[in-house]
Amino acid sequence: MKLFNAVPTLAAGLLALTFSGAHACEDCTNNSTDPIVRVPAPWTLYGQVYVITLLDLGLTGPLPTKAYPPLERNSSEFTDAGEFIAGLGNIQIVRYTDSPVGPYDELLLVPGFWKYEDADGEQKENVRVSRIYVSQKYTCYNGRLNWDIPKHLARFDWTDNADGSTTVKVFPYDTDGDEGEFKPAAKPWFQTTFAPTLVNNVPFSTDLYGWLGVDTTLVQPPLPAGHGNGSYGELPGTDYWAKTVPGQSTDDATLGIFDMDQGDGDVVVNGTNAVGDEYYPNFWPTLPRLNLGLRMDNATITFSEATYWNFTKA
Ligand SMILES: *[C@@H]1O[C@H](CO)[C@@H](O)[C@H](O)[C@H]1NC(C)=O
Ligand SMILES: *[C@@H]1O[C@H](CO)[C@@H](O)[C@H](O)[C@H]1NC(C)=O
Ligand SMILES: *[C@@H]1O[C@H](CO)[C@@H](O)[C@H](O)[C@H]1NC(C)=O
Ligand SMILES: *[C@@H]1O[C@H](CO)[C@@H](O)[C@H](O)[C@H]1NC(C)=O
Ligand SMILES: *[C@@H]1O[C@H](CO)[C@@H](O)[C@H](O)[C@H]1NC(C)=O
Ligand SMILES: *[C@@H]1O[C@H](CO)[C@@H](O)[C@H](O)[C@H]1NC(C)=O
Ligand SMILES: *[C@@H]1O[C@H](CO)[C@@H](O)[C@H](O)[C@H]1NC(C)=O
Repeated sequence: MKLFNAVPTLAAGLLALTFSGAHACEDCTNNSTDPIVRVPAPWTLYGQVYVITLLDLGLTGPLPTKAYPPLERNSSEFTDAGEFIAGLGNIQIVRYTDSPVGPYDELLLVPGFWKYEDADGEQKENVRVSRIYVSQKYTCYNGRLNWDIPKHLARFDWTDNADGSTTVKVFPYDTDGDEGEFKPAAKPWFQTTFAPTLVNNVPFSTDLYGWLGVDTTLVQPPLPAGHGNGSYGELPGTDYWAKTVPGQSTDDATLGIFDMDQGDGDVVVNGTNAVGDEYYPNFWPTLPRLNLGLRMDNATITFSEATYWNFTKA
């Protein structure tokens, strides 16, 4: 098992110190005129992480259409890169307060494990981020090139409710059928409300997954380039696989309940949205409406340097 490892974390931590205050962009928002530049891994980020575990044990291929973004689902290099074999997955929502490309929000979907052949032709099994949205162009561009993570833009709408719960709604740039990905969709592709319980201040780290025998190493296939490169040149493609060890830790995790009721969702025709994503009342076929999950406050998140190799067809 490849576990979260103290040495790269320390190195990433030191690098983060030299980074603090100095980002790759002065103004790290979409409207900024600061050029989008490459900020190579490793990255250390800080923020608040929400985690919903997916018990996708019985979910074997084919995956729902909505597992992949519209661009990547059209790329056989992406969708045929190994075989989905189910297992434990998760949905994460992250509010990064700081990163090498400034603050941003993120929603990601890991349906479970894929079986694939690595650079040496050996059979491996690893988790994969199949779909992910971020709130600004600098992280979108770098996430795709550094780790082959299929980032696209979305608008994130957060509400703090009077009862202490928090609601987030996510409006992607690629779900209204416009391939140029010029603006957020009018209807939310995803929504959830997190209500904290009184169980908090619990320390948590991805080490825990290691102890449980779950390998969190991400292995991602090559990405297609966006039609017209996206709104801001944020959608580069790649011609390599990438393998990355992510880490998350906090001293202050809170148990809570995620309400996954999607309301009317973003259905436009015959139970799907404009790009064919299926409507499920609780977003994902294996999810009940109410789910026990975790919020990690003041978390430190690390993304290691990746190992890269080229795609070779058998
Ligand atoms: C960003 O630019 C767009 C288009 O020029 C404009 O409509 C929008 O108000 C700007 N947003 C902010 C926060 O400045
Ligand atoms: C994906 O392919 C389908 C079928 O060819 C096409 O209608 C659709 O516009 C494509 N979408 C993207 C985002 O490339
Ligand atoms: C891009 O940035 C603008 C202003 O900085 C913001 O209004 C818009 O929601 C952002 N887009 C995304 C994808 O969040
Ligand atoms: C896409 O935009 C990036 C800048 O963000 C640029 O470096 C790259 O050359 C563009 N790719 C294409 C195919 O235009
Ligand atoms: C919706 O479903 C109906 C009945 O199956 C079908 O006739 C119609 O063509 C579908 N519409 C679209 C846009 O797929
Ligand atoms: C810790 O997290 C809470 C909730 O996200 C936030 O309000 C607070 O500012 C954070 N503290 C530090 C030192 O970052
Ligand atoms: C993949 O192949 C391309 C073209 O053959 C080459 O330019 C690139 O450096 C290779 N990348 C890796 C990571 O091997």
